[in-house]
Amino acid sequence: APTGELDSFERTIAADQRIEPRDAMPEDYRRTLVRQIAQHAHSEIIGMQPEGAWLTSAPSLRRKAVLTAKVQDEAGHGIYLYSACETLGVDRADLTQMLVDGRQKYSSIFNYPASSYADVGTIGWLVDGAAICNQVPLCRTSYGPYARAMIRVCKEESFHQRQGYELLQTMMRGTDEQRAMVQESVDRWWWPSLMMFGPPDAESAHTARSMAWGIKRHTNDELRQKFVDMTVPQADALGVTLPDRSLAWDSATGHYRFGQPDWDELARVIKGDGPCNAERVARRRAAHEDGAWVREAAAAFAARGGRVG
Ligand code: 3HC
Repeated sequence: APTGELDSFERTIAADQRIEPRDAMPEDYRRTLVRQIAQHAHSEIIGMQPEGAWLTSAPSLRRKAVLTAKVQDEAGHGIYLYSACETLGVDRADLTQMLVDGRQKYSSIFNYPASSYADVGTIGWLVDGAAICNQVPLCRTSYGPYARAMIRVCKEESFHQRQGYELLQTMMRGTDEQRAMVQESVDRWWWPSLMMFGPPDAESAHTARSMAWGIKRHTNDELRQKFVDMTVPQADALGVTLPDRSLAWDSATGHYRFGQPDWDELARVIKGDGPCNAERVARRRAAHEDGAWVREAAAAFAARGGRVG
């Protein structure tokens, strides 16, 4: 865009206003948003897999209905986010093809197995809890369509987090085996949940510029700290122990001190070498291919002006 128009971009950002699809924007700003929003959308869709696997084994109709509502919410979040991404000139079909070809990222957290039913509760409590910490500030991100998509996502995310926590509370009031199942699940999901916020700020390639552009409102480490401060009292109320011996309240700072996640593990999982990466992408590719006839039929129907016969 001509320099004059980019000055208006700078002025809009400096005034903490919203950039809209028709506004002039630096190509790097657009590219950063496409990368982050696409990854966010892919995460929502792939994120349906770990819990979705438990739909047929839910122990009651109520648990099945709640889990069905949550999993289909995630599909909706993916659709809002692909729509926000398309306002930047990309096509969701291309993004999906790149995802199934293994050429796009999604959140590391969904590359871990949901190996016990307690994981349905732990994912709601910790993963959706971390997502809330990360997504609430995104309601104020500088790109209008992304910020507006986040408002409804965050409302639904609160339900996701509460249903997970309530499931764990019920299990903690159950048998010794159920309490042990919850603790074993929390032990597996705690550190990967901290990794959802990204690498430490000092190693984050994009944070400084995303903060300057108002895409991010807080850094990775700030949001990770906020999540730990919010979650430790919830763990205490639940009666589970978080698997971090260095976790301690620091009255001088008013925050919890906590240990460092295994950043090599995060790098491996991001590169595709996590416990479930291949399975998740293969499942998404199969669903995409199996659904081709639906897309073709819908396109044929639309081409006839939506008339049958
Ligand atoms: N998983 C996968 N990739 C990650 C990652 C993670 N947890 N953390 C960082 N990365 C990648 C980044 O994409 C970037 O890759 P690239 O340079 O090759 O594109 C690289 O690692 C460097 O990390 P940065 O911190 O510099 O990258 P960002 O500035 O993009 O910050 C982020 C990473 C905090 C995840 C940011 O992209 C973000 O806030 N994304 C939107 C929110 C999101 O995706 N949330 C998680 C999944 S959605 C969810 O949880 C759904 C809920 O319903 C359960």
